[in-house]
Amino acid sequence: MARTLLVPLWARAEESRRADGLLRDRKAEEIVAAVDFDFDVLRGASASQLGCSVRGALVDAWVREFLVAHPDGTVVELGVGLNSRHERLDNGRARWIELDLPEVIALRERFFALHARRAVVSASITDAGVFDALRDRVEGPCIVVSEGVLVYLDRAEVRAVFSRLRAALPGASFVFDAMTAPVVRLQGAHDAMRHFDARFTWCVTHAQEVESFAAGVRVERSHSFYDLLYAHPRRLPRWMRVAGPVVSRAWPAVRRCYTINLARLG
Ligand SMILES: C[S@@+](CC[C@H](N)C(=O)[O-])C[C@H]1O[C@@H](n2cnc3c(N)ncnc32)[C@H](O)[C@@H]1O
Repeated sequence: MARTLLVPLWARAEESRRADGLLRDRKAEEIVAAVDFDFDVLRGASASQLGCSVRGALVDAWVREFLVAHPDGTVVELGVGLNSRHERLDNGRARWIELDLPEVIALRERFFALHARRAVVSASITDAGVFDALRDRVEGPCIVVSEGVLVYLDRAEVRAVFSRLRAALPGASFVFDAMTAPVVRLQGAHDAMRHFDARFTWCVTHAQEVESFAAGVRVERSHSFYDLLYAHPRRLPRWMRVAGPVVSRAWPAVRRCYTINLARLG
């Protein structure tokens, strides 16, 4: 599961090298050059490369917006992987707490330096007390980001994440992505994930389903990944450029099969 972090890392590094890139991430470029992995296996995964970049750019925009409104707030990143959002967005005042499994936090230590406003937590988000421990470190308003993380959990685990987060950090914003059952069923054809053992597991019919996971949870924004992707048609493989509009006209649910969402926790 942890190895999946290589896909968005590679995607951001590739994006950063483009003259028309949707984001700049020199740190991702540096890490890709240093880690021992044959990124050539991902060479044909242009849709995933663009997909991770449009998703990352949207989440960056939401975090940037949060930091403008709350410059002294706290950004919590669950399943942070080798994401360098802190390097991309830090305003010199906010606190950052970055959480992932122990093996990932150990790997991060090779590339990222901590400082007084930046801390790491080495734990699983499925651990019962993990968010209570986080609460003691959060100062001011808080945005919690989980990008490409909940999809690897099962429904009971995701429900517990919402309910424990809501209890520990009421009022916080929570960014999460969610996919529908057909995406999970068809993951064997995914251009990048087929190179990894990890499996998408959690799925929803509508992202708003999470509102039933804990009292007071409200999905305030929900963006269609399809729309974000197809805003850049020339960067998609030809078969997707042709098939996407045809399939989405015949089956409009395609446009909501994967969403990136911003919820309020009570
Ligand atoms: C696809 S990667 C995404 C990494 C990062 N969010 C990004 O966008 O670059 C999924 C990440 O979730 C982490 N992860 C998966 N299950 C987790 C869990 N139960 N607790 C904490 N982190 C987890 C993995 O270790 C990995 O770093």
